[in-house]
Formats: sequence, C-alpha cells, structure tokens
Amino acid sequence: MLKILITGGAGFIGSHLTAKLLSLNYETVIIDNLHPYYPAERKMKQLKALAGNSNFSFYRINLLDWERTEEVFKKHQPDCVFHLAALPGVPNSLLQPLEYVDYDIKATINVLKAAGECGAQHVLFASSSSVYGNQGNVPLKEEMATGNVISPYAAAKYGAESFCQAYANLFGYKLTIFRYFTVYGPWGRPDMAISKFVRQLLNNEEIVVYGTETARDYTFIDDIVSGMVAALHRTEGNEIFNLGAGHPVTMEELLGYLKEHFPKMKVQHAPERAGDVKATWADITKAKEMLGYEPKIPFKEGLAKTIAWAKAYEK
Ligand SMILES: NC(=O)c1ccc[n+]([C@@H]2O[C@H](COP(=O)([O-])OP(=O)(O)OC[C@H]3O[C@@H](n4cnc5c(N)ncnc54)[C@H](O)[C@@H]3O)[C@@H](O)[C@H]2O)c1
Repeated sequence: MLKILITGGAGFIGSHLTAKLLSLNYETVIIDNLHPYYPAERKMKQLKALAGNSNFSFYRINLLDWERTEEVFKKHQPDCVFHLAALPGVPNSLLQPLEYVDYDIKATINVLKAAGECGAQHVLFASSSSVYGNQGNVPLKEEMATGNVISPYAAAKYGAESFCQAYANLFGYKLTIFRYFTVYGPWGRPDMAISKFVRQLLNNEEIVVYGTETARDYTFIDDIVSGMVAALHRTEGNEIFNLGAGHPVTMEELLGYLKEHFPKMKVQHAPERAGDVKATWADITKAKEMLGYEPKIPFKEGLAKTIAWAKAYEK
C-alpha cells in the first residue's frame, strides 16, 4: 500500500482527502501548522475525526522550517505527497502579499525538495482557478493560464506551479497539478462565500455581495476528493488538471437557491473587490478523459448538504 503525506491535511480539503485515503486503507501522514488564518480549534476538530486510526499520524510543523520538515519526510519516506498547505484567500493576499511568498512559494519549495530527497515518486499540488486571471465568462482550459493574474494569491500559485515543474524535472518524480474551482461543502473554509453566507443567514444576519454579474464554478468537496484520488493512479508524465463542476453558477442563481432555504434573507450589495475575478468556468474535458473524473453532486444538492451540516455544527 502507498504511503501518502498530506501537507495542509488539517484544513478543509486536506481533512476530507485524508478521511477518504484512510477509508481506502492508505497510510497517511499529515503536516499542518494549524495556521491562524482561521481558528485552529476548527482544524483540531477536523483532525479529531481522523485520529485513532492506526494508519494516521500528524505533525504540527511549519513547512517553512526546513529541518523539521526534512525530518518528517525522512522518517516516513512517503511514496506520494499531496501538497495542499498554503495561505489561501484573495482579499487577504492584497493586505499581506509577502506572507504569500512565504507560505505559498517558499514552503512549497521546501516540500518539493524534501519529496525529491526522500525518493517520493509522485507530487500532487493544490493550485487554483485564480491562475487564469480575468478571461470573461468562457470555459477555461488548462493551457489558457498565461501568468496574467490579478491578485498576489494567484501570482503565488502561478509561481508555485512553476517551481513544481522545476523540481519535478530536477528529481524526476511524477507531478500532478490540480486547479480547483471554488470548493464548498461541510467544513467549508469559513472565509469563503457559501460558508460565510450560510453561517450569517443561520444567525439572521445580512449578507454582503460584492460586484455584479459574477459567477463561480462551485465544486462540491466530494467531487474534488474523487478527482484527487483518481490522480494517484496516473501512470506517467507531468500534468495539470482543472477540477471543477463544469457549470458556472451566477450570484443571482446562488441567492435564489439560498432564498429557498432562508426566505427572510437580507442582501446588501457592495462594489467589486480588487483581486476578485469576475467569473470562473472550468473546462473539465482533460480530467474526464485522463482521470475518469466525473463530478456527481448537482449544485442544489451540494448546497442543501452544506446547509444541513452548518445547522448541525455552526449554530
Ligand atoms: N478551497 C478552495 O476553494 C480552493 C480553491 C483553489 C485552491 N485551493 C487551494 O487548496 C489548498 C487547500 O485549501 P483549503 O481551502 O483546504 O484551505 P485551508 O486553509 O483549510 O487548508 C490549508 C491548510 O494548510 C495549513 N498550512 C498553511 N501554511 C502552512 C505551513 N507553512 N506549514 C504547515 N501547514 C500550513 C493550514 O494550517 C491549513 O490547515 C490550498 O493550497 C488552497 O490555496 C483551495
């Protein structure tokens, strides 16, 4: 059985991925520093659901600390490394751009180097649809990212992708780059629109919508995880894959769906925020063809599951 190391495994996507890998009997090792971008208590809860499994270990380490990172890689000698640890969030990246060079680029270099030195065969990196910049409301294909991005977060992810290519070529490991499109679902990151809206609506608070005519290719967490697991078994080469639903949902549509659950919903409109792209729409042809990726959860169903989870855990 493969040994798999997951950086950022205490986070939203990483904890769901780890749960799935444990259910498939993989040996999993998480490195996460429980960064205070959002409360560490929430990440601890995500970890608690994983602990107790004999195939699971966790290290609270900052990946910027090379010695401690190297130590864990040497000790466990993972076959595959999912690198998800990063400082997320477009608006925050405009406030603290240098932090994104540290957390999204420098930490990535440490992981890429440690993976190569311990003989890992496959590195799988969490990139983002933000690397496409603003290209209008068109399906985005993998080859359409040119570096013309509009936020420090996106610039860091685009740069990190390039470091991934460099180290894959230097060490000869297989590289998979995922570009996720706005992931949502239970335990969703609390700063992201759907999580934030649902939490505020449950507390009878007004929600704030930025900009007009925006749209997002919202992707349910289980679909993202199925695409990531499918990529584990890829046989060769360095590849980039969009993981999205393949169907953009406009803000008006999202508000309509939310109103079905929260009829008294109050919405305040505000100007668009710098750094936010207008629309995202994933062309998922490549992931379908090469990974057999097939998103299964329709948006209405995913939203209902997310609201049901929030009612149980967020109130
Ligand atoms: N959620 C999305 O919609 C989305 C979309 C595109 C890309 N991504 C990318 O996917 C990855 C996971 O995102 P998420 O939404 O689960 O975010 P998250 O913040 O929930 O998870 C990231 C985890 O990484 C950890 N971390 C950060 N820096 C670290 C460091 N230096 N050392 C150790 N641990 C560190 C954090 O503590 C956190 O638990 C990120 O790279 C993010 O940029 C997410």
